[in-house]
Amino acid sequence: MCGIVAYVGPKEAYPVILKGLKRLEYRGYDSSGVALLNSGLKVYKKKGKVAELEDSLMGKDLHANIGIGHTRWATHGEPCDRNAHPHSSSNGKLAMIHNGIIENYSQLKNELMKKGYQFTSDTDTEVLLKFIEDIQQNNHCTLEEAVRIALKRVVGAYVIVLIDEDNPDTLIAARKGSPLVIGIGKGEHFLASDASPIIEYTKEVVYVNDYELAIIRPDELILKNLGNEKITPFITKLDMELAAIEKGGYDHFMLKEIFEQPDTIFDCLRGRLDASLGTITMAGVQNNIDQIKNANRIIIIACGTSWHAGLLAEYIFEELCRIPVEVEYASEFRYRNPIVRPGDVIIAVSQSGETADTLVAIEKAKEQGAMIFGVVNVVGSSIARISNAGAYTHAGPEIGVASTKAFTAQLVVLTLIALKVAHEKGSIDQKRFIHLLNELHDIPEKVRTTLQTAEQVKTLAEKYKDAKDFLYLGRGYNFPIALEGALKLKEISYIHAEGYPAAEMKHGPIALVDETLPVVFVATKDSYHEKIVSNIQEIKARKGKVIAVVTEGDDTITAMADDVIAVPEADEILAPILSVIPLQLLAYYIGIAKDLDVDKPRNLAKSVTVE
Ligand code: G6P
Repeated sequence: MCGIVAYVGPKEAYPVILKGLKRLEYRGYDSSGVALLNSGLKVYKKKGKVAELEDSLMGKDLHANIGIGHTRWATHGEPCDRNAHPHSSSNGKLAMIHNGIIENYSQLKNELMKKGYQFTSDTDTEVLLKFIEDIQQNNHCTLEEAVRIALKRVVGAYVIVLIDEDNPDTLIAARKGSPLVIGIGKGEHFLASDASPIIEYTKEVVYVNDYELAIIRPDELILKNLGNEKITPFITKLDMELAAIEKGGYDHFMLKEIFEQPDTIFDCLRGRLDASLGTITMAGVQNNIDQIKNANRIIIIACGTSWHAGLLAEYIFEELCRIPVEVEYASEFRYRNPIVRPGDVIIAVSQSGETADTLVAIEKAKEQGAMIFGVVNVVGSSIARISNAGAYTHAGPEIGVASTKAFTAQLVVLTLIALKVAHEKGSIDQKRFIHLLNELHDIPEKVRTTLQTAEQVKTLAEKYKDAKDFLYLGRGYNFPIALEGALKLKEISYIHAEGYPAAEMKHGPIALVDETLPVVFVATKDSYHEKIVSNIQEIKARKGKVIAVVTEGDDTITAMADDVIAVPEADEILAPILSVIPLQLLAYYIGIAKDLDVDKPRNLAKSVTVE
């Protein structure tokens, strides 16, 4: 949440920062700003998307070799120019960008106001900056020392980057809880919330850890802890290509990412699944197999779409591994007093690997002795690093704010884990194991076939785009897909949608059904098929409009439904990977039909690094 980018070196800083901000816009896009230091410190900021900042700066002299930039997802204070970052110190010599929340900001603000400080914004960031300024003035110390002292009093999460008129070749950065990557170039350094603004310049990066402070000059990177001891930076090589973060001919990242799914699923299986040999290779599972297969309980912790993947994994793990599973919203888990015991295995599911609630929830479970297994997309992210073991989803960078390809990759990885554990445990018979491996092997091609429904879904989007509400229903393995379909529609088209277990519908939502309500049934062929056919009849009897996602050749539902989208036949455990795809497309095309910004829906952010 919030994107930060900074540069110091021989290049023009502004174009590097601007391009970086555009890449990081998925993290928030309420307002943006830059601070550039040439013969003096200049700060420019603007409400709205980065393009609006860019327009407002046309024709200005922006020459500088050092600068910081920020794109905001508002927490403290409405989105407006005044609350946009960078913020400036009272003497105008310092500017700072911040991602995170300073929880004790009001206490610090009161103290500073008593000393006569005035505030031009409603943000916690300005408070922290002026707190740092105050410490520096009172202690007559360096900015680095003042930052260190300040951070010892700060409660909350942050990445901050400061630029200082008195030290025109130096950036100071610090991290706790929010992500920060430093790219190491030749005589230059790049700072960003993730690697996407950096990869076209260098592949050598350092991931800054919590409670570390960085002093960055063109030729020098010094890392220290808050006790002022030097730490040797650990340099990692980025395994990412520039093409992966560009639109590649598609109108939107969301559509590109939906259409990438045959390849991302293939990548996710590659090197892991060998259907002909009947093996699954996953070092993270294998190295911890005794602990996982003998777990008292698996607790899956996640948020948003990742939580839906976790919910489906519950069904799969319980069926195949016969281990009790609980699925927790990270935000609830972290604040209740959950019972976690040493024999428990936690699976943290996260695309970004940075979601604040998930991160803190697993830290808490780890403290209580649980083993943490991360299912994460972003390599080197905080959740990946804090986990005891894990499996990456290998979906590549996901830029569209609403998750699509990362979700199907999560489903595939979680299924692979369940299959491997079940096989090692002996809770699945060999015939079914081999059958499922072969089915998984065929899934990328079936996803490709499913994508051919796009034109048909587009027509349906036109037909239903003006509906005020939607109901999504599914049973068993398709129930989490009903939830995910409803979430996608809300996120992208701003139409109210509810996902429900199809049978539970008669305990409330059925009251909403009339001829204006589209009801999407996720009804591929599975053990519940006859039951869901009855649920469809219940809706039709009340004149609801039924759109059904069915298995090819399902004449029964085709005869009953108003509209049908057919997907290839697959084992019921894997069918959700197919049935979700028309729902992703439906949300996308309704969003487009309503002329909405599908890649950056209002109020949302891709990486939610505040609680
Ligand atoms: C945000 C995103 C969702 C995502 C959720 C969890 O709300 O907009 O798409 O599912 O965060 O994020 P994570 O990165 O942990 O999967």
